Amino acid sequence: MIYGANGYTGRLVVAEALRKGLQPVLAGRNREQILAMGLDTGLETRVFGLETPEQVDAGLQGMGAVLHCAGPFVHTYRPMVEACLRLGVDYLDITGELAVLEGLHALDAKAKEAGILLLPGTGFDVVPTDCMAMKLASELPGSDRLILAFVNRGSRVSHGTLRSMLTRLGDPGAERVAGRLVAKPIGRLGTTIDFGLAQRFCMSIPWGDLFTAWTSTGIPNIVTMTASRPWVHRLLRLQALFNPLLQKPFFRRWLVRWVDRHVWGPSASELEQGQALVYGKISHPDGRVREARLVLPECYRLTAITSVGLVQQLGVLREQGRSGWCTPASAMGPEWVVSLEGCRWLESV
Ligand SMILES: NC(=O)c1ccc[n+]([C@@H]2O[C@H](COP(=O)([O-])OP(=O)(O)OC[C@H]3O[C@@H](n4cnc5c(N)ncnc54)[C@H](OP(=O)(O)O)[C@@H]3O)[C@@H](O)[C@H]2O)c1
Repeated sequence: MIYGANGYTGRLVVAEALRKGLQPVLAGRNREQILAMGLDTGLETRVFGLETPEQVDAGLQGMGAVLHCAGPFVHTYRPMVEACLRLGVDYLDITGELAVLEGLHALDAKAKEAGILLLPGTGFDVVPTDCMAMKLASELPGSDRLILAFVNRGSRVSHGTLRSMLTRLGDPGAERVAGRLVAKPIGRLGTTIDFGLAQRFCMSIPWGDLFTAWTSTGIPNIVTMTASRPWVHRLLRLQALFNPLLQKPFFRRWLVRWVDRHVWGPSASELEQGQALVYGKISHPDGRVREARLVLPECYRLTAITSVGLVQQLGVLREQGRSGWCTPASAMGPEWVVSLEGCRWLESV
């Protein structure tokens, strides 16, 4: 089942699943749009919201796995994962939200008891960066510092991504320090990073890998960064002044309405022509460092490819007796990302 199938990313995932010859059940709370998608594709549809356990249980009946695409996940993951635990359904999602990853990880023992997989982060955040972290950690064992950075060139963020970012507006960022997730100002670090095909100014942001790369590699100090305009980075120095305003409910409501009215895309040509680049650097206490770079399709296109790719691996993972929490790289290994269409390591810069 693809839940949230009518969302921007949900639709990309449905198209990719059909391209791969899969026949998912399409689900979501939006009756009109889900039924219309069913008519267009000939796929089975189910319409249900996430408000009560009864409706989620009824909606999930008979499913082997759900790929949850309805975010912000901080509002949606709990009812879905709890139903998965009750019904013995494998849970996958496309979240990159730290609080959600943390919440799912805490359910590891319950998931093992129920015999289900908890496999979040099946999209751009965190598949390539998780593979990058694991590859670097295996190349330089004993390392204690990891930097992961990304840029999505020639594209933009979707409605749902911005809505998810708004749930944390005005909150501090985070870094992993000595194994603990510690609040740090967004943009505390800013530096130019050489992605191989481009150099970009990047600043630190709280990204899902602060949780997943930690569970995949055990590296105790992790910073995650994204490309940004230098003026945005400079502006963020004033965040202590404007964060209280950003946290005001009336201001958040106004921004949510603005995003609902004005944010759409990426467009078909941005999906086609955009390109994501990932950079990773690991450091050993003895001074050795190692870097790696990935060249990838546009990040929403990649999310569809990686999510469907992981669903296709569920049979193998079940045969291996896997259950409980796993990250994409801990399930599939660090090289899995480059087995996917349009993904490659950049060998030299
Ligand atoms: N990690 C990654 O790399 C990655 C990549 C892409 C997207 N994402 C995340 O995926 C999420 C979706 O993004 P998008 O751009 O596809 O968003 P979108 O176009 O706004 O779609 C959101 C979907 O979620 C559903 N939804 C929202 N709140 C719900 C709730 N409380 N109960 C049930 N359904 C709910 C919406 O249903 P309605 O139509 O009924 O509102 C819609 O189907 C966001 O959280 C985004 O950050 C992550």
